[in-house]
Amino acid sequence: MPVDKIETNIETIKKYFDMNNIDWKSLPFGYYKTDCNVRCYYRNGKWGELEYTDSEEITMHMAATCLHYGQEAFEGMKAFRGVDGKIRLFRPYENAKRLIRSAEGVMMAPVPEELFVKACIEVVKRNERFVPPAGSGASLYLRPLLIGTGAQVGVKPANEYLFVVFAGPVGPYFKEGFKPVQIQIVEDADRAAPLGTGTLKVGGNYAASLRSGQRAHDEGFSNVLYLDAKEKKYIDEAGAANFFGIKNNTYCTPKSTSILPSITNMSLRQLAEDMGMKVEQRQIPVEELSTFEEVAACGTAAVVSPIGKIVDRGTGKVYDYGTEAGPVCTKLYKQLKGIQEGEVEDIHNWNLIVE
Ligand code: PLP
Ligand code: COI
Repeated sequence: MPVDKIETNIETIKKYFDMNNIDWKSLPFGYYKTDCNVRCYYRNGKWGELEYTDSEEITMHMAATCLHYGQEAFEGMKAFRGVDGKIRLFRPYENAKRLIRSAEGVMMAPVPEELFVKACIEVVKRNERFVPPAGSGASLYLRPLLIGTGAQVGVKPANEYLFVVFAGPVGPYFKEGFKPVQIQIVEDADRAAPLGTGTLKVGGNYAASLRSGQRAHDEGFSNVLYLDAKEKKYIDEAGAANFFGIKNNTYCTPKSTSILPSITNMSLRQLAEDMGMKVEQRQIPVEELSTFEEVAACGTAAVVSPIGKIVDRGTGKVYDYGTEAGPVCTKLYKQLKGIQEGEVEDIHNWNLIVE
């Protein structure tokens, strides 16, 4: 047998050997090399064809606008293997729409919805062996990324862009899983300005959150709870997740011009309504924290992460919600996971089955 054939066979055997070796239950939320990522280039005013590669690298011009002026945006979404063996992508058209908004917000060429969804489907199909089994608590995380690759030295948008989607199996974002986490209110840092880019999923917001995020971890907290940047009066974003509180059969979540419109939060609002709860999206004064029966962070990575304790770093005030997840958070979590994993009827048609 020719040497290259032997090598291909060894690669194939290694792949399946690896697959059997993944310990799905103890996967962290992190990068995992898989078989294939998808790329698409925008040149001369139009998007090209999808390209498939196993390379983990991108080469680009050193004056690319993503490197200098933060012309970049990304998405985060998950695919789940259901109890019926089918693979479901959760609300990919919402991520597609949000990436278009982010692109327009920092003057990048938007990725058409259909191109976005096709790239996501292809990346899932080509990495099928990395979609964790149902009930493992893990999922396949997709990371669509859009960057300005054209060279500019003046502060101007690029004329070339690269859209990439890679994927890898992940476990829970917070090491606590569905156990309540402790978070810290900070008054001396903002992740986004009221009329800035907070509603977009662009890298600059995350760069702005790194220092306070790291400090919170060093001080023993899982996450930061930001206040509104202007008045420091209202609850804003919960790190890389939205915040919600529950009281009197009401789901309350902040209305703000500096938080990311979370697709998970949008889904939970619908589920809360389906369960007969009232839903309020409004400014939430920080003092109101003491009136909630349950509080949580929500997002694709965070799913529903109940919050056990909030400590205000500035005033020292502590808000305690106990060491167990509350009944409403538990119900919302189970309903959302149930839909994503095909155990609960998907009455809103949120899942896209990957076939
Ligand atoms: N807020 C921020 C800053 C985020 O990074 C994320 C994650 O995507 C979310 C909220 C939650 O959004 P989604 O539920 O669409 O993942
Ligand atoms: C997500 O929930 O998908 C996120 O993007 C959060 C974070 C890992 C950036």
